[in-house]
Amino acid sequence: MPHDFMPGLAGVPAATSSISDVDGQRGILEYRGIRVEELCAKSSYLETAYLLLFGHLPTASEYQRWTNDVTHHRRIKFRIIDLMKCLPEQGHAMDALQAAVAALGMFYPGRNVKDVENNYWSAVRLVAKLPTIVAAWARLRYGDAPIPPRDDLGFSENFFYMLTESAPHPLWAEIFDDCLILHAEHTMNASTFTGLVTASTLADPYTVVASSIGALKGPLHGGANEEVVVMLKEIGTADRARSYVEGVLSNKRKLMGFGHRVYKVKDPRATVLQGLCQSLFKECGSSPLYEVALEVERAAGELLKGKGIHPNVDFYSGIIYDKMGIEVDLFTPLFAMARVSGWLAHWLEQLRENKLFRPDQIYSGEHNRPYVPLTQR
Ligand code: ACO
Repeated sequence: MPHDFMPGLAGVPAATSSISDVDGQRGILEYRGIRVEELCAKSSYLETAYLLLFGHLPTASEYQRWTNDVTHHRRIKFRIIDLMKCLPEQGHAMDALQAAVAALGMFYPGRNVKDVENNYWSAVRLVAKLPTIVAAWARLRYGDAPIPPRDDLGFSENFFYMLTESAPHPLWAEIFDDCLILHAEHTMNASTFTGLVTASTLADPYTVVASSIGALKGPLHGGANEEVVVMLKEIGTADRARSYVEGVLSNKRKLMGFGHRVYKVKDPRATVLQGLCQSLFKECGSSPLYEVALEVERAAGELLKGKGIHPNVDFYSGIIYDKMGIEVDLFTPLFAMARVSGWLAHWLEQLRENKLFRPDQIYSGEHNRPYVPLTQR
């Protein structure tokens, strides 16, 4: 055997990167060296996206240009809307998002990923247009017309406006923006790796992002935020949480929103999200889901003691979105809307020294088998 086989490539570095870093033992996450807690307290999603993409906090003029560029590219072609109209309304919002993003590339056909200027505009378009696609899908599937973006509104405010036709409570926009910061980037996770594999073929960034969206959808990755809320609703009341957790664990099932390949302590994003839940509830009243979640965390803490399995980013995020009236199957698209900046940051980084991903395998099949004709099988 030429190499050790590591299932799931656990612990195998796939890139050298200066975009973000996780200390899974101490529960620390930094973007370009800055702790996410500090970014949530002081930055905005768009500024954080710039930091991830270009490696430094923007100057005032850089920030102005970036904000203007993103704001002016929020609109989507009517044909993208027409395309979404043709999709089955019961279909998953992540599938609609993936289809629309893949189709976007057909409208912006610059294929030369060595063109720095073109890459900048691709990044602008993708960061700007994903929220418009998500909001348009949320309405189109009920037969409602999409609401065009408003240039006078900030990134998060505008997203709520496109969903509901009214600007949100300022606190909601602030909390939502923090949620986007927390979901913007997370080292070499499954969807980022997927995007980088696609990018390594020098495919265009729309294809890169569409493939990352596909990987994010799964319940072991970003899709867990939906599963958590479904689980909390199924449990119903806090007093039923412990027996539910016992049932899951005794049946050797996974508790959704718990566990992480890297974190062996509570995910710092879950801690910040829990604080955001509390700020939201102080203003708008509590959520029964939160009471259930606290009990699930308590019970899991006792039953999984010493195993290093704690709440991850997906455990508390859905409770916030649910309280804001966002439908469950939009939770993972919201994750994608935020993570697109991280995916693109890795794409730009890899392009500087690209090498086609082409790993090896350990063949475990037979050799020299005879072909048996159909009539003799
Ligand atoms: N509930 C119960 N047990 C768990 C959980 C969990 N959520 N997560 C891990 N374990 C246990 C496993 O059963 C296994 O136990 P064993 O050694 O006795 O067999 C051990 O911990 C290791 O688990 P693996 O699944 O092998 O660890 P891995 O690093 O591959 O898993 C993963 C990470 C996929 C996230 C896992 O924790 C999981 O499935 N969690 C639930 C889904 C989830 O919340 N995903 C979102 C992750 S965050 C994100 O992607 C955005």
